[in-house]
Amino acid sequence: MLHLHHSCLCFRSWLPAMLAVLLSLAPSASSDISASRPNILLLMADDLGIGDIGCYGNNTMRTPNIDRLAEDGVKLTQHISAASLCTPSRAAFLTGRYPVRSGMVSSIGYRVLQWTGASGGLPTNETTFAKILKEKGYATGLIGKWHLGLNCESASDHCHHPLHHGFDHFYGMPFSLMGDCARWELSEKRVNLEQKLNFLFQVLALVALTLVAGKLTHLIPVSWMPVIWSALSAVLLLASSYFVGALIVHADCFLMRNHTITEQPMCFQRTTPLILQEVASFLKRNKHGPFLLFVSFLHVHIPLITMENFLGKSLHGLYGDNVEEMDWMVGRILDTLDVEGLSNSTLIYFTSDHGGSLENQLGNTQYGGWNGIYKE
Ligand SMILES: *[C@@H]1O[C@H](CO)[C@@H](O)[C@H](O)[C@H]1NC(C)=O
Ligand SMILES: *[C@@H]1O[C@H](CO)[C@@H](O)[C@H](O)[C@H]1NC(C)=O
Ligand SMILES: *[C@@H]1O[C@H](CO)[C@@H](O)[C@H](O)[C@H]1NC(C)=O
Ligand SMILES: *[C@@H]1O[C@H](CO)[C@@H](O)[C@H](O)[C@H]1NC(C)=O
Repeated sequence: MLHLHHSCLCFRSWLPAMLAVLLSLAPSASSDISASRPNILLLMADDLGIGDIGCYGNNTMRTPNIDRLAEDGVKLTQHISAASLCTPSRAAFLTGRYPVRSGMVSSIGYRVLQWTGASGGLPTNETTFAKILKEKGYATGLIGKWHLGLNCESASDHCHHPLHHGFDHFYGMPFSLMGDCARWELSEKRVNLEQKLNFLFQVLALVALTLVAGKLTHLIPVSWMPVIWSALSAVLLLASSYFVGALIVHADCFLMRNHTITEQPMCFQRTTPLILQEVASFLKRNKHGPFLLFVSFLHVHIPLITMENFLGKSLHGLYGDNVEEMDWMVGRILDTLDVEGLSNSTLIYFTSDHGGSLENQLGNTQYGGWNGIYKE
């Protein structure tokens, strides 16, 4: 798990990907635990920069719970992710292998899976740490983001589902949060698709108008059929560009429990409490252990869905609010461990999947993270 290596997959303005990592286990208990089988709790943030966290030197972002992990544990300062984007870095994280070995890279522009429904994902013959632990008798769960594919041939075969990768339990998004889930201006797919569809609409509308004018003036000798077809196609394209945003929200922004879709599209204001509730119930169910729980936060990816009581509270705008909310979630999860009496028998590991997404900017506002000393 700790031998992820930095490869030169940096892309456009993506920075070398840095992981911030904390390991925590009460020292007094660690000698007993090494002989037995500790519970393992992995906490992974999405797009969080190493410079966003208090214990890595940020004195204006309030992350007391993550800092607490560092104080009680080990803080790694040289720990590098295998890729600067989600799909390949997460494939490497789960397998300990370069993403190119599992096919989770691409030489063309699309370096992450683009749609939930797209055919493709982490091959099931890869060995994930979840599979190994499951074989050793661990209860294994993944709560949060997956982004390593869902289907092969049909919309329901779920061949790449987390349940085929060593996890007994899955709750969360098979895909990822995206700006498009909230129809943000910072858009992954929507704006580009709308522009293409609009352009095609204009071309076809022009063709239709030219044909009509040509026919009426007898300058172009065509029948009505091509006129009608081009007009119909133009209308269809206009309608598609109007509905494509809603289609994306429906197709990608949903929650599943195991193989069942539970909310489509998801209700964002409810997602954070639902995830915390799911974590607590997993911990309670499995407190007699051993368990592996991988909490893969939807935070701090755009569109930075943040609950009302954190909005406007940080010194770093909506991004900061979202980071501080995630820190609060970490605190809630640690509290649950305490309450269930699991703190002394659980290895906790906090990391980001890679560095901050610096290009998330609108005007002068920064919606991506801060990579501290690892800037360009
Ligand atoms: C703390 O994080 C914010 C948000 O990413 C960033 O703008 C700021 O520069 C960071 N401060 C330090 C001292 O690194
Ligand atoms: C998984 O299967 C594919 C296709 O048969 C093969 O190319 C690949 O090497 C296999 N991977 C592993 C880890 O066995
Ligand atoms: C998910 O599926 C596994 C078996 O595949 C089962 O043990 C577990 O209870 C299921 N979880 C839920 C919440 O249904
Ligand atoms: C965990 O270890 C600490 C330090 O030894 C001890 O004070 C505490 O009571 C232990 N907690 C549990 C639940 O065993």
